Amino acid sequence: MAPPALKESPLPDTPISTVLLVIALHAEAAPLVADLRLTQDSQAVFPEGVPWVKYSGTYEGLNVHIVTPGKDGIHGCDPVGTVPASLLTFNSIQVLKPDLIINCGTAGGFQAKGAAIADVYLISETAFHDRRNSIPGYREYGVGALEATPVPKLISALQLKTGVLTTGDSLDHVPEDVVIMKANDATVKDMEGAAIAYVAHLLSVPLIMLKGVTDIVDSPAATDEEFLANLSLTAHAIQRTVSKALQFISGKKLSDL
Ligand code: ADE
Repeated sequence: MAPPALKESPLPDTPISTVLLVIALHAEAAPLVADLRLTQDSQAVFPEGVPWVKYSGTYEGLNVHIVTPGKDGIHGCDPVGTVPASLLTFNSIQVLKPDLIINCGTAGGFQAKGAAIADVYLISETAFHDRRNSIPGYREYGVGALEATPVPKLISALQLKTGVLTTGDSLDHVPEDVVIMKANDATVKDMEGAAIAYVAHLLSVPLIMLKGVTDIVDSPAATDEEFLANLSLTAHAIQRTVSKALQFISGKKLSDL
């Protein structure tokens, strides 16, 4: 059964004016902040005390905001995973009222599905692989499959590869995850995407997801080492694709994408 599509946007189908980019890692955001010439603004748009960071500016006539979860207040690392991503996305939608969200970042890729290092995928569908629940009616809720907003013209203009994204809160995976990732028909695996899709669906905001491959999930290589070795290369590949996507989106309505 096909997963439910993102709800129709309640916004009129007018040219897209404000785009919100949600990015988990500073290292993924940095090349885009530089290329789009965005500036970190000190305007207090987020609740007091959160470590979240916002960069804003105009690019190709679009109002562009990049938000990241900043640095974890206890551990000092970038707050990856579904909880910070959901909270940041929910609050950013309330405050910035975007016409469109783009979630971009790194992901593991499945070579059995043709993924290679530094490929950038346009995500067609998201699902979770670590929310197991055998109680009747809860299995499908746990998987939480959602179709992404359809953007066929963007895919063909940028000649993008497409695939299903599977999300879980761990960088590695256990055998139970493998079964569900396979059932999800996943091409790429990340730690935020399905949660961001849940929030976008909840608040009826169109969502595009672009994921760049830093490591191969179905290979014996150590994921952490492969990720760190390819992070910069892939972050720049994501930057080039997102910049081109914004150029394409400029002046267009959702129905033109
Ligand atoms: N981000 C980059 N590589 C990943 C992987 N293998 N799993 C989850 N998130 C990732």
